[in-house]
Amino acid sequence: MKITKEQVLEALSTFTLPGGGGNLVSTDSVRNIQIFGTEIVLDVEINNPTLQYKKKVEVDCLKAIHDHVYEKADIKVNLIINAPEKPSNVIRGNEIPGVKNIIAVASGKGGVGKSTITANLAVALADKGYKVGLVDADIYGPSMPLMFDVVNAKPSGREVDGKRKILPVQSYGVKLLSIGFFANTDQAVVWRGAMASKALNQMLWDTDWGQLDFLLVDLPPGTGDIHLSLVQAIPVTASIMVSTPQAIALADAKKGVAMFQMESINVPVLGIVENMSYFTPEDLPNNKYYIFGKDGAKELAKKLKLPLLAEIPLVQSVREAGDVGRPAVLQGATDIANSFVQLAENVVLEMNERNKLEPTKRVEITTMSGCSTK
Ligand SMILES: Nc1ncnc2c1ncn2[C@@H]1O[C@H](COP(=O)(O)OP(=O)(O)OP(=O)(O)O)[C@@H](O)[C@H]1O
Ligand SMILES: [Mg+2]
Repeated sequence: MKITKEQVLEALSTFTLPGGGGNLVSTDSVRNIQIFGTEIVLDVEINNPTLQYKKKVEVDCLKAIHDHVYEKADIKVNLIINAPEKPSNVIRGNEIPGVKNIIAVASGKGGVGKSTITANLAVALADKGYKVGLVDADIYGPSMPLMFDVVNAKPSGREVDGKRKILPVQSYGVKLLSIGFFANTDQAVVWRGAMASKALNQMLWDTDWGQLDFLLVDLPPGTGDIHLSLVQAIPVTASIMVSTPQAIALADAKKGVAMFQMESINVPVLGIVENMSYFTPEDLPNNKYYIFGKDGAKELAKKLKLPLLAEIPLVQSVREAGDVGRPAVLQGATDIANSFVQLAENVVLEMNERNKLEPTKRVEITTMSGCSTK
């Protein structure tokens, strides 16, 4: 029986590392394979020094070689902790193959219309011919299935390169995945920390997105720990902050912007969207009532030196459109549809500007320590 290095490498590429980090071969972590008859000695470089991780990698290596090469091989795995120049608690969102720009849509305060804006932005971008995906990461109240009229849809699966991949649901030209597809609405409330991150990971990386120009991520409202870990796990290209003109919403939006700009998160903010800027009654289309205050987001944007991407009025048809699952941007040549089209144009513009300044790269998440939203 002659065991070759190639066989060993092939066996070691059959399992993925914990935490979605690829496999040992693709990450170039295997060194010094030595074979003496049926005895195999190899070095494996790992970044995570925890006992649990080391044990898992070692057991996976032994199992893979026993299963795929020779069941009686005598194996010695030397784990080399790759003492990184980076801190050991590095968390990194791996690139999603085929996805060019990932935009996180966030709001400090809840109920300001973040999901409505995300849905309409996605459809407006798709309408312009961009390839668009949308991930509804709102673990507290996923709303995309309703807004896209696909409440009962169940994403199917498909085998891609020997791996089972989720196929997103398609609606209005947008590829959609929602945490709501994987649990009923009552259950969604119990998604917490690690579980939520795991579900989000699957929606991002275990999904056959194909080629996408934009992948929008509808985050849950807020700036707490869950947001930090969600944002840290996603290789976000940029973010958009949604706020109403109301002082309390603006204060939370400011906190949200600060969260993205924290050194440890470092996600560029493309700009601010003001929603519910003014109320226009259907029977008085030329009247504007500034019920939440006037120009609040415009002033905040100016103060934070960020573009104001759109001012979306409060109109009844937006709410109705959301409720029947047909985003308002599809209403043809109306003012409200136009305001969403304008938003999409500004997002493309700002995204291009940003990518010119600094080519789109995944955001390197540095360290968890020092992450405080206070
Ligand atoms: N511009 C608007 N005009 C009229 N109604 C709107 C507008 N924007 C949002 N709404 C309505 O306000 C409600 C809340 O909007 P939405 O669910 O998008 O907010 P959200 O910020 O995502 O909320 P949550 O924090 O719960 O995720 C919905 O009923 C929606 O239809
Ligand atoms: Mg929402």
